[in-house]
Amino acid sequence: DWTPSNIVSELVTAIREQIGDGYAICGLSGGVDSAVAAALVQRAIGDRLTCVFVDHGLLRAGEAEQVEQDFVAATGVRLHVVDAADRFLAALSGVVDPEEKRRIIGREFIRVFEAAAQDIAASAPVEFLVQGTLYPDVVESGGGANAATIKSHHNVGGLPPDLRFRLVEPLRTLFKDEVRAVGAELGLPESLVWRQPFPGPGLAVRIIGEVTRDRLSVLRRADAVVREELTAAGLDRAIWQCPVVLLADVRSVGVQGDGRTYGHPVVLRPVTSEDAMTADWARIPHDVLAHISTRLTNEIPEINRVVLDITSKPPATIEWE
Ligand code: XMP
Repeated sequence: DWTPSNIVSELVTAIREQIGDGYAICGLSGGVDSAVAAALVQRAIGDRLTCVFVDHGLLRAGEAEQVEQDFVAATGVRLHVVDAADRFLAALSGVVDPEEKRRIIGREFIRVFEAAAQDIAASAPVEFLVQGTLYPDVVESGGGANAATIKSHHNVGGLPPDLRFRLVEPLRTLFKDEVRAVGAELGLPESLVWRQPFPGPGLAVRIIGEVTRDRLSVLRRADAVVREELTAAGLDRAIWQCPVVLLADVRSVGVQGDGRTYGHPVVLRPVTSEDAMTADWARIPHDVLAHISTRLTNEIPEINRVVLDITSKPPATIEWE
């Protein structure tokens, strides 16, 4: 019967059967699925798994550390970190178009991942690539061949098209809630197991306008404040996710102390959803919103206006790009 502990031992057995005494690599994105898949495979084959974390510099505050420190501490996984922030920023320089941003990030990710994979393959006969594919992904890619591409969804950690690895997909029979239960059973940190969805291209698609180091820093601070306050208000599980969007090319006039300011707006986009296909804007209590607004404008000098997105999906998507 279905208990997290039974499912873990079944999956571990199946992974051992598939990989035998072979070697595997796994790309970590910072998200739940790749982390749980990696933890399972590590449980099955130990150090014959090497994880690769490409830090593209577009994650939120604390997320790279969560992978590099907390995840490693919890699993003992062998981790290869590539700090590629400069490379991604250079490639994104001057780029404003959302799809162009996604294409560039996807392309750079594959190049960096391939180079790391080659390094690892130079010292071990790596034959397998681990992926955190879930059951809904399997169904979607099988059934939705003609679905229009609304946004080119790039999953960091995804399979480079011409890599010649055999796939290990230990989560392909599981739904998200089951993956979380397995992750908890494996001793992964709560904050990782319960992480809300976050796009592979990261903060790049939450900066409306060119992505720069300074803008990333502003958005990262804003996002951290919002997450802190939503958590403090006990709303993490009530909302699906809350993108924070920096309107980097928009400025508006404000007044603070004795002075006129000319700063940037941030948008709060809290949504409720079952599966991200449709969504409604979340009715966050006004006092929580008020507190977030005060903190954002007090603590982040570049921000002088906070706006709330009250559009459902459709017609708007959850992310702004
Ligand atoms: P949209 O904006 O299309 O988002 O309503 C639906 C859900 O998907 C997430 N999202 C992504 N996830 N790679 C991902 O792994 C991506 O490129 C990507 N783009 C959007 C978004 O956060 C929301 O949960």
